[in-house]
Amino acid sequence: MSTLRFARLIEELPATVPFVGPENLERSSGRTFLSRIGANENVFGPSSNVLEEIDRFKGTSWQYGDPELLELRSAISDLLGVDIDEIVVGEGIDALLGYVCHLFIDPGDTVITSDGSYPTFNFHAKGHGGQIHSISYVSDHVDLKSLAESASIKDPKLIYLANPDNPMGTSWDSEDIDEFVSGISERSLILLDEAYGEFAGDGVLPAINTSLTNLIRFRTFSKAYGLAGLRIGYAIGHRDLIREFEKIRNHFGVGKLSQVAALAAIKDQGHITHTLRLVEESKARIYRIAADNGLRVIQSDTNFVTIDCGYDGDYARQVLESLIRMRVFVRMPAVAPLDRCIRVTCGTNSDLDLFAQSLPIALAEAGE
Ligand SMILES: Cc1ncc(COP(=O)(O)O)c(C=O)c1O
Repeated sequence: MSTLRFARLIEELPATVPFVGPENLERSSGRTFLSRIGANENVFGPSSNVLEEIDRFKGTSWQYGDPELLELRSAISDLLGVDIDEIVVGEGIDALLGYVCHLFIDPGDTVITSDGSYPTFNFHAKGHGGQIHSISYVSDHVDLKSLAESASIKDPKLIYLANPDNPMGTSWDSEDIDEFVSGISERSLILLDEAYGEFAGDGVLPAINTSLTNLIRFRTFSKAYGLAGLRIGYAIGHRDLIREFEKIRNHFGVGKLSQVAALAAIKDQGHITHTLRLVEESKARIYRIAADNGLRVIQSDTNFVTIDCGYDGDYARQVLESLIRMRVFVRMPAVAPLDRCIRVTCGTNSDLDLFAQSLPIALAEAGE
């Protein structure tokens, strides 16, 4: 028995890996996936300018990245028209969510999220001893009204929501989000996760207003920019809030090559336009494949499509497991009633050829 004295909070946490990656599934099955369309990565990848810049700078890998990330923050500031002091960059949204939990949560503090939404917020909130209060989805959307009502009763320190949402791919219009934000007490910080923001149609992302002291918005280079493996995201908020991150963030967390890549990526907005077109085409094909199999889809504002398998979680899980056996990596929502669905990331033509071929077999196997 170890005599090490872990923090009490840590001793209470389960020692399980919460995120089972495709690599883990490949190791346990001994077979690689032929189609990796489950983690909402951008299979179309980054711009060729990004790859050239990585190549040009690879010899500087021995250097730490700029801890102030000045060039990258300037580029983001130019793109979005916000001040450089209103931007913090981190190792993906995932890490930034962890930093916010570190900044705000004392053990026992209440936070509010939606039941079945992107799980990393819960992971970090639990890791800091937060008491999570979850609101059910309504019609496959985050339930803004119930979130606000619950916030007015529970006085949470943090309220998390993703718009567009993962795992359902749905979104609220900017006016709905603005109205929601204006109805929340200034004592509660709203964490608005816009990881899929670039994919959303006009009218989904509210205008940026950094004078609000209780709103922080998260964006990432992992999705539209195609750089999930390099771990870069950023948050935008009031400068007083952004300054607090200096107390706890991992200043050397975003490496030199990640910074170089993100800078080149942000300068190539033409590539984003191109990517959005490919994603739309892929999404339309996933809709068709679902329809060909008699399945309903949930209209998506993201780079993935959530397909309603028509029954309960057990049935959808069988469909998912069959697809995985046929070497198609997809995922599914974790809680009912969302778990009647599987979630398919936009893929290349050959990814979707395999999906189209495998789905009817998976449905037949699940029906047996
Ligand atoms: C809603 C949402 N937020 C954040 C992330 C992760 O972003 P990052 O790669 O920047 O950590 C994801 C990834 O799937 C996501 O779906």
